[in-house]
Amino acid sequence: MSLLKVINCWKLFGGLKALQNVNFEADQGILGIIGPNGAGKTTLFNVITGVYKPDKGKVFLKNRDITGLSPHTIRRLGISRTFQIPRPFINETVFENVLAAGFFGRVDKVSKKELIEETEKILEFVGLIDKRDEEASSLNIHQRKLLEIARGLITKPILLLVDEIASGLTPAEVDNVVSLIKKVNEKGIGVIWIEHVMRAIMKAAERIIVLDYGKIISEGSPEKVAKDPLVIRAYLGEEIA
Ligand SMILES: Nc1ncnc2c1ncn2[C@@H]1O[C@H](COP(=O)(O)OP(=O)(O)OP(=O)(O)O)[C@@H](O)[C@H]1O
Ligand SMILES: [Mg+2]
Repeated sequence: MSLLKVINCWKLFGGLKALQNVNFEADQGILGIIGPNGAGKTTLFNVITGVYKPDKGKVFLKNRDITGLSPHTIRRLGISRTFQIPRPFINETVFENVLAAGFFGRVDKVSKKELIEETEKILEFVGLIDKRDEEASSLNIHQRKLLEIARGLITKPILLLVDEIASGLTPAEVDNVVSLIKKVNEKGIGVIWIEHVMRAIMKAAERIIVLDYGKIISEGSPEKVAKDPLVIRAYLGEEIA
């Protein structure tokens, strides 16, 4: 059974077709999504997470129709996301940021004590335990991206949607987030990862979907999509040239 199924999804903004008949399935692995700016990648996450209702089409999580449910309900059913622009509560500490995400997003009955312990474990896991008591405003970009992941993980998702965590990072930081996402996936959490940094997504993803003008123009292994003339023309051209 696939974890997520997106069937014939359309999303229009006035006359702009942000998503056009998007169809794909994701399993428990790491699925990459690439494509030019404005291709509809973040819109796709917004449709999956209930921020937008698709104009047409359906979204299924483990065969359950979640189309049009509220973001809150969808999070409780097991989908977490990170944001392209990190959105921490900047005046709260790193610890408080993760704890708050747990309070609001958890579906299971968990005591405050247990949640505190889990928050500590997750901060350890993502590599932010040393920053535990610092205000989120003091974090650099890399640390803010790690905090996004921690906030995503505290709700115990079965699927984590990651929106561009590698951009703006140094090569060593990119390697760090690649291995972190792989570690997340090894815990049994499915991952869909939107990324412009090719070095990162080519290393991490088992399969990649390429969006262009709201349509899937290519799909397959990283090696396959990197060689696809359509993808080279629409997106990779400059890089390869
Ligand atoms: N709320 C909105 N209202 C109107 N147009 C929107 C809205 N959200 C997105 N769009 C438009 O839809 C298209 C797809 O945007 P989206 O943010 O999904 O692109 P993206 O692939 O994530 O791009 P990037 O790589 O730059 O993040 C763009 O043309 C964008 O301007
Ligand atoms: Mg985007």
